Amino acid sequence: MLCKKLHHAAYRCRDARETTTFYTEVLGLKFSHAMGEDHVPSTGKYSPHVHIFFEMEDGSNIAFFECPRDPGNVKDMESPDWIQHFAFEVEDMDTLVKAKADLEAKGLKVVGPTNHDDFISSIYFFDPSGHRLELTTRTCRDAKRLQSFVDEAPQVLALWEKTHDWSQRHTLFGGSTGYERQGG
Ligand SMILES: [Fe+2]
Repeated sequence: MLCKKLHHAAYRCRDARETTTFYTEVLGLKFSHAMGEDHVPSTGKYSPHVHIFFEMEDGSNIAFFECPRDPGNVKDMESPDWIQHFAFEVEDMDTLVKAKADLEAKGLKVVGPTNHDDFISSIYFFDPSGHRLELTTRTCRDAKRLQSFVDEAPQVLALWEKTHDWSQRHTLFGGSTGYERQGG
């Protein structure tokens, strides 16, 4: 496969200092790199900014730009705020529940754990810039069930394209509510 793993996903932040404090002290990531530029390296456009990277255990990063002179918002202000988010994977359900308690003790409002399709379970909260973050753990470890998710994904997409709602979910899953699969 060409794409081996996540290197980084980048977002705009409100303030590089508060972002660094949050990602290192609240989430325990490594402050792995900071680059300062007056011009955007790829386009040459004038935009004094700092680009900061925070590394996870596997070497992947979440990155931010503080760009005080550029127009626009730090995040998409028009879409519902649950849509754009970044998810970190944690070890197991126990870790997820403990992380929720830890984040709440640090003063954050945390939603969940929420079960997603017996595939993953997640908690949600916001960083200082208002970006939605997710901590998630894989709850399905059964290879056959995981393969069934892969096999059905094109059918789920095709039904969505046909109806743009889930009123005909039963035609795919054999159940009219929830994600109850036949024999699943
Ligand atoms: Fe997610």
